[in-house]
Amino acid sequence: MTATPPNPTDWSHDFDHYDPAYAADPYSVWREMRATCPIGRSDTFRGMWVPVRHADIEAVARDTAHFSSRSPLVAEFGAMSDFGIEVPPISSDPPYHTAFRSLLLPFFAPGRIDALEPAIAAHADRRIDAFVERGTFDGSVDLAQHIPVAVIAGMLGIPDEDGDRFRRWVHLLLEVAPTDMGVAATNLIEFNLYLQDQIARRREQPGDDLVSFLLGAELDGRPLTDQELFGGCLLLLMAGIDTTWSAIGASLWHLALHPEDQHRMRTDPSVWPSAIEELLRAYAPVTMAREVVADVELGGCPMKAGDPLLLPFPAANRDPEAFADPDRVDLDRARNRHLAFGVGIHRCLGSNLARLELRVTLQRVLERVPPFHLADPGAVTWSRGQVRGPRVLPLAFDPA
Ligand code: HEM
Repeated sequence: MTATPPNPTDWSHDFDHYDPAYAADPYSVWREMRATCPIGRSDTFRGMWVPVRHADIEAVARDTAHFSSRSPLVAEFGAMSDFGIEVPPISSDPPYHTAFRSLLLPFFAPGRIDALEPAIAAHADRRIDAFVERGTFDGSVDLAQHIPVAVIAGMLGIPDEDGDRFRRWVHLLLEVAPTDMGVAATNLIEFNLYLQDQIARRREQPGDDLVSFLLGAELDGRPLTDQELFGGCLLLLMAGIDTTWSAIGASLWHLALHPEDQHRMRTDPSVWPSAIEELLRAYAPVTMAREVVADVELGGCPMKAGDPLLLPFPAANRDPEAFADPDRVDLDRARNRHLAFGVGIHRCLGSNLARLELRVTLQRVLERVPPFHLADPGAVTWSRGQVRGPRVLPLAFDPA
């Protein structure tokens, strides 16, 4: 990515993860902050703190006594839980977190996830069929965005055709709602109405899906409340869709810009395991958030209870203190303890699923689509906010 100067924003004092300059090039922002502060602040987001060093980010993620997960999104208007919106386990702290996470574990068991491989390959093939004769495709619009939606639709037991509504909710809830309370309220109500209908159907006729699973689940010997059912389903929508969409899109973007890596992955199956981890490290899409719940000092900064804190795991993955030559994508990188899926008690429950979707989709593309490049580099756009990935990604097949 080109090194666009991040100014006029003063990133150390007025950090804004919605700034288009940050979406276009967060790497130079992190470099500048690491060299100057290295924990940023932002008055726009209620005095939010922003660590960018690997060591600080890992320390926060592991310290649940001082940093609560009660608001995994930083919004201008307050913490999610101030408005009664819970998305357990991602928005909860121990001991409740431990119990809710344990309840979900069987649903994400490796055997259950591995069994999804043929369906994921079929989803990818269906999308590739639509453009493989055309010579051009949009890696995000025609392909990446559809795969996780189809998978989550299957997990929730809802029809594929509802995918567009899901993508719209995800976009509005994650990219627009944190700076627009009206959009947050309208879309949460809409999703709730949709879900209530699905829950009523599953009560009548249970299936092998998350709604039925949650309806039959027990937490400390009691059934889940309506709010927990809603939160558990909203979680899949918020955690499972634009995250994986972004990881697939960013990997296609990288391969389009780096023909040597594309060729390597087409011809050398042995590189795949390390290549997938390296693509996840370099283009980690997910930034989380915490709220300070007890006064604490981090990196020399006095943090007060109630302060929001942004937790950019992607910045940790580019820290030269933790990774040699971090801005170079090295498909053979052997030591790669990246934080794309977080660290500590909230480490991603869907990581095996995300890796599977990324690997299978890239495999189908590289097997079926001829070598490709960026058709129009200037037309590429990246999402803003806490999940970053390409949203417009025009690609063209190389001339024969
Ligand atoms: C490339 C794709 C993905 C990335 C990069 C990613 C990243 C993350 C990260 C960084 C966290 C840690 C949250 C924190 O520390 O506060 C997390 C948690 C979580 N993720 Fe993912 N995720 C991805 C895909 C998925 C998918 C596909 C699902 C499920 C369908 C999923 C479900 C979850 C859940 C349930 C949690 C909460 C775990 C807990 O709080 O104990 N994720 N994810």
